Amino acid sequence: MTRNGTNEEDARMRTQVGIVGAGPAGLMLSHLLHLHGIESVVLECRSREYVEQRVRAGVLEQGSVDLLHRTGLADRLLREGMRHEGIELRFDGESHRVPMTELTGRAITVYGQQEVVKDLIAARLAAGGSLLFEADAVRLDGLDSDSPVIHFRRDGRDEELHCDFVAGCDGFHGVSRGAVPDGVLRAYERTYPFAWLGVLAAAPPAVDELVYANHERGFALYSLRSPEISRLYLQVAPDEEIAAWPDERIWAELRTRLETVPGWSLNEGPVLEKSITPMRSFVVEPMQWQRLFLAGDAVHIVPPTGAKGMNLALADVALLGDAFAAWYGQQRTDLLETYSTTALRRVWRAQHFSWWMTSMLHRLEKDDPYETKLQAATLRYVATSAAYATSLAENYVGLPEV
Ligand code: APR
Ligand code: PHB
Repeated sequence: MTRNGTNEEDARMRTQVGIVGAGPAGLMLSHLLHLHGIESVVLECRSREYVEQRVRAGVLEQGSVDLLHRTGLADRLLREGMRHEGIELRFDGESHRVPMTELTGRAITVYGQQEVVKDLIAARLAAGGSLLFEADAVRLDGLDSDSPVIHFRRDGRDEELHCDFVAGCDGFHGVSRGAVPDGVLRAYERTYPFAWLGVLAAAPPAVDELVYANHERGFALYSLRSPEISRLYLQVAPDEEIAAWPDERIWAELRTRLETVPGWSLNEGPVLEKSITPMRSFVVEPMQWQRLFLAGDAVHIVPPTGAKGMNLALADVALLGDAFAAWYGQQRTDLLETYSTTALRRVWRAQHFSWWMTSMLHRLEKDDPYETKLQAATLRYVATSAAYATSLAENYVGLPEV
């Protein structure tokens, strides 16, 4: 980053790639660019503490773990991440294990998204990277020129970041997607008639592997963060207020939906955090316009049932990192040009998988007996057919090439 010397233009900075958003997408892109010798500045509207504490999903596909290893970010992941070789599906009072590693040779690692974010921030700061927190991008200009500008506000001042390219990694509610002129992008979306209530609890997990439960009162998921911390989710109505869910009601509902197999009970403990997240599927195409490249939640959202959100964000920027390296290193434009098409192949595979898992496991808002029978048939098929279980498993652990 270089600052212009004169006082009057003190609020102007210049870099090669201007990145909006310090989530997994923006931070990993900045790290990858650094490894390729390319300069970037990350603008993040929230504080460092906020992004490091924000509780999000926690499943890393094998490919994401490999990326973190390859780029020198896996020290703590190796110590604290938990490798899982299967998941459990619970329905009809029965429990069925999908042995993912046996079926695919690959595994997932449970490691909270905010831990990945902490590791990335630490690595960028240790390398002298420019991460500007509480810097709110308000407008993107000149995206169709070779010197776009990100206008942002920091400490009550208007500032500008001039760059060669802008990476819009600012999530679903960010400004980047909206900077593309009307008529260029096409959105594909689906909202679901339910939300997830997520709970982080100081309770030793009563499971070794994640449990996905289909219950007549709605879906429930038993996940974990460490030997002391459980992460649990309940399907709730889309307009549900968190105030309507005191801890005792949450535990009672979790017991009803999860304690369906004889002799098994969950462990309760103090609730550390709880929140409600809406469920939606969303894709915008293309993922690029002129000098703006969009990645992660800024261009696609999946319902969390397939645990794909963070993995897609990392896969997008792995492509972008290579594309920028080819541009700056060899004046090649091909990878930048094919970025959107290549990324969208993985995005749509994950869209289908996430929609499929969601449809198989949730109770629909209106009672639909035909749909309920289809769910039961699908679950039974996964539980009894190695071919169908392998399809679930290979999507869940992540397909190496899509
Ligand atoms: N200016 C600067 N930063 C912004 C702006 C803005 N105008 N708008 C949003 N941001 C920041 C947000 O505060 C957030 O930290 O952009 C960041 C986007 O990060 P994420 O939402 O984590 O999105 P992404 O990096 O694409 O990662 C996707 O996050 O939501 C989960 O399930 C999702 O796991 C997936 C992952
Ligand atoms: C989580 O641990 O937060 C988690 C796990 C699996 C999912 C979604 C979230 O499908």
